Amino acid sequence: MTFIGMTAAVHSLDLPGTEVIPIYEGFHGYIYGSLAEANTADLDLVRARLGSGPLRVLDLCCGMGRFARALAAEGHTVTAVDLSADMIAQAEEMWRPLAADAPGEVVFEAADATALEPGEPFDAVLIGGLSVNTFDASGRRALLEAARSYLRPGGTLLFDHFPAPEKAGDPAYHTFPFPGEDGSAFTVLSVFQTPEEGTQITNMYSEIIDAEGATRRFLSSETVTYTDAEELRAELERSGLRVVEELDTTPPAESGSSVAPRSVLVRCEAV
Ligand SMILES: C[S@@+](CC[C@H](N)C(=O)[O-])C[C@H]1O[C@@H](n2cnc3c(N)ncnc32)[C@H](O)[C@@H]1O
Repeated sequence: MTFIGMTAAVHSLDLPGTEVIPIYEGFHGYIYGSLAEANTADLDLVRARLGSGPLRVLDLCCGMGRFARALAAEGHTVTAVDLSADMIAQAEEMWRPLAADAPGEVVFEAADATALEPGEPFDAVLIGGLSVNTFDASGRRALLEAARSYLRPGGTLLFDHFPAPEKAGDPAYHTFPFPGEDGSAFTVLSVFQTPEEGTQITNMYSEIIDAEGATRRFLSSETVTYTDAEELRAELERSGLRVVEELDTTPPAESGSSVAPRSVLVRCEAV
């Protein structure tokens, strides 16, 4: 794990009540998942491409299940998989009150997306929320090969990813306060672009302060790997996936931001 800037300083203090935790588990799994849940623009893009059900859809790296719920609302039958048991537990909790009235179905599973048991092939595989970038280059190749193996011929793979920025922007810090009845909490999310390494580092630092002022602290770090368009196309081709659409989904640049993050949605057909 790599800690930079303010998080490196806090990490080095080794204060009592401080835990280093994986970014998709425990308190940070909850925070990260909640932030991802607020994103709806990509849901519309995915819904538009898969249409109304019933298709058999596999949602890989599903997080708290926002795609799975949206696709079940369209009548699809979804298997949603995430490595983090904490994410799956929260996804199941969010799905439970909706299940009875949904036209489609969701089954959640805590498992490694690259190593699912072979079963009946899916009509579509989705890898959303820029999850592809959370894999390093060899992990990404394994993920794409696995995604193809889960599809029927002619089936659809949909995923989004982000290439390296032209040059590193300034470190970005985002602060999220969570006032509560029995105390309060905050999270600072820091993003450090390191395109010369082909990576970007995200640090998360949170404090949970109870009514008596006792503080628990959490630190997490994640290194994501930028994609290279040519490499990616070659990997897809080798895996038996033909690109049929590439859509620039970069959000409009915020005023004052030095480098706007770029993102691309890719639709492939299993050959
Ligand atoms: C960036 S989040 C995206 C979550 C969700 N798709 C969304 O858009 O809200 C990436 C997710 O991938 C999961 N993940 C990472 N490696 C995985 C693996 N090998 N197999 C399954 N899930 C994995 C993480 O636990 C995390 O929930």
